[in-house]
Amino acid sequence: MNTLAGKHLVLGLSGGIACYKAAELCRALVKAGASVQVVMTEAAEHFMTAVTMQALSGRTVYTSQWDAREANNMAHINLSREADAIVVAPASADFLAKLLHGRADDLLSLMCLARPIESVPLLVAPAMNREMWANPATQRNVAQLKADGVHVLDVGQGDQACGETGDGRMLEAAEILEDLQAFFAPKLLAGKAVLVTAGPTYEAIDPVRGITNLSSGKMGFAIARAARQAGAEVTVIAGPVSLATPRGVRRIDVRSAQDMFNAVQAQVAQAQIFIATAAVADWRPDTQADQKIKKDGSGQTPQLAFIENPDILARVAQSERAQKGALFCVGFAAESHDLLAHATAKRLRKQVPLLVGNIGPSTFGQDDNALLLVDAKGATELPRASKQDLADDLMAEIARRL
Ligand code: CTP
Repeated sequence: MNTLAGKHLVLGLSGGIACYKAAELCRALVKAGASVQVVMTEAAEHFMTAVTMQALSGRTVYTSQWDAREANNMAHINLSREADAIVVAPASADFLAKLLHGRADDLLSLMCLARPIESVPLLVAPAMNREMWANPATQRNVAQLKADGVHVLDVGQGDQACGETGDGRMLEAAEILEDLQAFFAPKLLAGKAVLVTAGPTYEAIDPVRGITNLSSGKMGFAIARAARQAGAEVTVIAGPVSLATPRGVRRIDVRSAQDMFNAVQAQVAQAQIFIATAAVADWRPDTQADQKIKKDGSGQTPQLAFIENPDILARVAQSERAQKGALFCVGFAAESHDLLAHATAKRLRKQVPLLVGNIGPSTFGQDDNALLLVDAKGATELPRASKQDLADDLMAEIARRL
């Protein structure tokens, strides 16, 4: 959900090599429709120039509490009163320590201290060496900052500028953007656990060949992301797809329909909502050769026989919990024609309260889609939009029906 459109953010930079990521973050925030006022500490200016941040934000950068441009000479008050949130990225170990003690000897810390605590949330994206991050002093500070109501984002893991490897890197700009989008999203599914199946399945013929389909998993992953942003605990069970896991979503990778069925059976007891977006192969070869099937030169083709895979959605929807209303099931139908008629019939056949229809061949792999929602009352259309926007709308539709 693009919850950042129209928001006004103060983006604070404290000193650290991760300032280069703040430049990208600033650009992404502006692209998402937010206005961004950059405030930099003196240390940050050693890593990134104010000119760069000014060009990216389209606003003069503030660096000093003595900035005479403000008529009342109170930049720390004026800037914080206008903001929907203050985001400090990177937040150095020193800056976190400063925040903790309520120190205010530069504009950024002064502004954080002076912000109206009820109406202007403070989010910080820590960035530091792994030893600094692991140090009990930093961990103590982080715990206390959380207790004080500061939203401390996760740290990344990997190679560090110092040559060491471990926890403490600042998240990537795209990850912080996703966390900010989630932060502002209405928590329509708070306290719910959502289980999603996504992508195609792969039914092996032999060790190198198999049968699959063109599902990209994009719609399912967009739904997992939307559910997470709406406050749910989300698990996605994914067939073979090449997509990044949405932030905060638990992912279980599977290959065949039978694997997906087993994974769903193992997870579904914890869920209150089950959304089956996967394009599950209806059939699998009845035997799987241990070795690659070779041509023998005779021109004869292998004879494949098929058996039906379990219908994951139908099995879950007919379970006792689903029938009693403790588990809300949503099915998808990818059709090539007569969408309403097929979707309506499929909803009844699979016994799901909500069936989401779409025209399969024109949507596989694309970033946008159009959906037809079919429930007991009839059909509603969600007109063509990005899969992410549709996923957000679908979460609202599900929340309304719970
Ligand atoms: N589905 C499932 N397990 C299967 C087949 C389908 O969970 N073995 C789910 C899909 O994830 C989707 C819904 O059922 O939510 C509809 O799947 P679809 O393949 O379109 O329907 P089918 O029942 O296979 O009907 P048909 O192929 O005749 O259109």
